[in-house]
Amino acid sequence: MMKQSAWRQMTEPGFWAGVLVVLCTLSVGADVHQALKTPSMLSKVLQRHKRDWKWDKLYVHEEMPPKHPPEKIGKLENTYFTPSARYNLSGDGANKIFTVNDNGDILVHAKLDREEKSIYRLTASLFNVDSKKQLDQDDSFVIVVLDINDNSPVFPPDISGSISESSRAGSVVMSVKATDADDPTTQNGMVGYKLLNGTDLFSINYNGEIRTLTSSLDREKQSQYLIAIQAKDMPGVNQRGNSATTIVTVNINDINDNIATFKSREYRFNVKEDSEPGYQIGVLAVEDKDEIQNKDPTFTIHKFGEVFDIKQSNTKDGALSLKVPLDYETLKAYVFSVNVDEHTVSKSPDNRGPNLLTRAQVVINVIDVDEPPVFSQTLYNFSIYEGPFKNPIIGAVSAKDPDATAYKIRYSIEDPNCPVVVDPVQGHLSLKKQLDREEESSYTIQVTAHEDVPNGLKSYAKVNLTVLDINDNAPVLTNGNGVYVCESDKPGTIIGTVGAHDKDENSGRFRFTLAKKSSNFSLTDNRDNTASIKLKQGGFSTEHSVEHVLEIEIADGGTPEQKSTERLTIKVCMCQAERQVEYCMAYAQTGMSVSAILAILLCIVTILVIVILMVLRRRYQKEVLVTKSSGEIHEQLVRYDEEGGGEMDTNGYDVSILSSACNDGSFRPATGPSLYAVVKKPSACKGDMAMMIEVKKDEADHDRDGIPYDTLHIYGYEGSESLAGSLSSLDSSSSGSNLDYDFLHEWGPRFRTLAQLYGVDGSDTDSSD
Ligand SMILES: *[C@@H]1O[C@H](CO)[C@@H](O)[C@H](O)[C@H]1NC(C)=O
Ligand SMILES: *[C@@H]1O[C@H](CO)[C@@H](O)[C@H](O)[C@H]1NC(C)=O
Ligand SMILES: *[C@@H]1O[C@H](CO)[C@@H](O)[C@H](O)[C@H]1NC(C)=O
Ligand SMILES: *[C@@H]1O[C@H](CO)[C@@H](O)[C@H](O)[C@H]1NC(C)=O
Ligand SMILES: *[C@@H]1O[C@H](CO)[C@@H](O)[C@H](O)[C@H]1NC(C)=O
Repeated sequence: MMKQSAWRQMTEPGFWAGVLVVLCTLSVGADVHQALKTPSMLSKVLQRHKRDWKWDKLYVHEEMPPKHPPEKIGKLENTYFTPSARYNLSGDGANKIFTVNDNGDILVHAKLDREEKSIYRLTASLFNVDSKKQLDQDDSFVIVVLDINDNSPVFPPDISGSISESSRAGSVVMSVKATDADDPTTQNGMVGYKLLNGTDLFSINYNGEIRTLTSSLDREKQSQYLIAIQAKDMPGVNQRGNSATTIVTVNINDINDNIATFKSREYRFNVKEDSEPGYQIGVLAVEDKDEIQNKDPTFTIHKFGEVFDIKQSNTKDGALSLKVPLDYETLKAYVFSVNVDEHTVSKSPDNRGPNLLTRAQVVINVIDVDEPPVFSQTLYNFSIYEGPFKNPIIGAVSAKDPDATAYKIRYSIEDPNCPVVVDPVQGHLSLKKQLDREEESSYTIQVTAHEDVPNGLKSYAKVNLTVLDINDNAPVLTNGNGVYVCESDKPGTIIGTVGAHDKDENSGRFRFTLAKKSSNFSLTDNRDNTASIKLKQGGFSTEHSVEHVLEIEIADGGTPEQKSTERLTIKVCMCQAERQVEYCMAYAQTGMSVSAILAILLCIVTILVIVILMVLRRRYQKEVLVTKSSGEIHEQLVRYDEEGGGEMDTNGYDVSILSSACNDGSFRPATGPSLYAVVKKPSACKGDMAMMIEVKKDEADHDRDGIPYDTLHIYGYEGSESLAGSLSSLDSSSSGSNLDYDFLHEWGPRFRTLAQLYGVDGSDTDSSD
């Protein structure tokens, strides 16, 4: 069978909306799709062989309410159709929206919406109702939903655009676009635009492009326009179609088209005379209708441009500032004029007119301030020679009160260590003491000037005092250590080079000469502030400890010339090749080291002696402790205590007993105040050791508990005031030579044998130990 195509003209009630060509084909699936998507294929009649299907009227209008009975939109036909054959549908909406009856009629059961689904793809099959056997191959077909104008154009929300003021006519402001859901290939989906107002300023074309109609848009007059725009489908067809309106905001952007003008004809400011340079005096307010970023005024100052400066402020006004300090006493007021100019991109009509203030007068009143004294210089620079001076005056400072009051000024130097004093009235600076450049070569002195009134203002000046040099220092030798003579040195060898140093500055050239001729060395002045020492004859040996001293006279060449004679000790050394020192015999240093060694030895000996003495002392104390009972020690202590009182201590002694003993010469060892006192008496009176020894002996013989003989040494400490007199061997020599050696007992146990040898009773000493 041949495949057929169908043409159908679609009509909306009342008018021809257009012609829709629908191709119905009997073809294999893919080809059908292709055919429908490609408009050029629509008019083509496609022919297929071996196909026995036939389609008819396969399109349906959208938005049609379902009818009863359902509307037939087409018919399936197949050459294999028999009364026992049945059609079946499958695919989009099959058996729900679209059904097929036994005759092959396709019925629609629902209202369709093209904007929801515009094409339904279905497959038809034919089978035997009894055997369910398929009678022909399945075939696909489409049902096209035809559009009606059921949607209105829709604008996006909040549309706005902008254009600079004074833009030329025809400039594009913005584009608007409304969308319509209907088929865009038909009038139903096409949109046209129209301005509802503002048509004197703007226009809109069919694309929705808004343009200006005038170049006189002025932000300063109106910065924003709201214009109403209508969008309508079915453009070109009046009274038909759906429409929508929106309000579009058109902002007018600012450009610099207005000039700046002064807000006032005169500006007045007061400025204190002590204001610092850079001080912001004030602002000359300026009028400029443009937005701040488009204001660009420039200012010109017509007089006193060296004193004042005017610049654009942050607010684009004129900021007036001070360039130099003012002085009320010089000028009390400044009057000058200032111009404001502005280069504008385009001229606003407002820029013309006789009343525009582009020039203003500025009046600055200087306010008087009490000012501190002003020195004639902030830094004074004086110099004076070091050393003794004839005239102590260095120079003078001067300061004045700049105010009209003109107070007297007094000068002072606050630093008490300053070597300079200032005359409080005249400002003369003079030296307090002699200066030494080599100690301190310059001084910075602060001089104070203050108004000679209570609470007067102060100011300060610096005085830089440079101490000038005089040649007052003699040169000294340098490099002396590098001069030595080697045993192997041949005559003529330069054995070293010496230099000189002088604390004074710029002391010319040093001159070197030998103060004393030397048979062994010669000296050559190198005329470059050094001198070389040359060997005249060899034969030096480290074995001969002879000191080689060269006396060199150095003159510093200054005025007055200063000279010094320096002793250069030359070492004799043992050297290797190229005068490399191996060992030196340095006399001066050897002498030094000998004395050092001696000193060290002396120290060691002293320390040794001290150590030995300490050891001995310890041993002695130990023996005493070991050999004496604690009771005896106690006794000894008691006696030492009493001894402090001497003769005058009547508590410790019974002086009457003592006196009586002296008077009658007799002594009874009876019940004395103390054993000690009793023991003393005889010797005290007679001055005779024999007497005392006798008493002592008796006592020892009769009283075994008495004091040991050793304690006789107590008498030795009685002192000159003692009635007992001296115990010295000279005085007591007459009483027997065997008693002269009592002091041996004082010397401790080590001298016991000696004491025994010199006449002390052996039995007594034995018992005491
Ligand atoms: C018709 O087609 C539908 C879907 O393809 C299927 O479910 C149904 O069984 C078919 N009817 C017959 C009688 O073959
Ligand atoms: C246009 O109409 C809108 C709405 O009525 C109004 O807000 C707007 O100001 C008008 N614009 C002009 C330029 O007249
Ligand atoms: C100060 O005086 C010294 C010597 O009198 C001079 O060398 C120096 O340049 C002077 N300095 C100033 C700052 O005047
Ligand atoms: C003072 O004078 C000396 C010598 O001219 C100079 O080196 C020094 O910088 C000066 N000091 C001041 C503070 O000017
Ligand atoms: C010169 O050197 C010799 C040793 O070499 C010495 O004996 C003599 O005293 C020296 N002469 C002088 C003037 O130092």
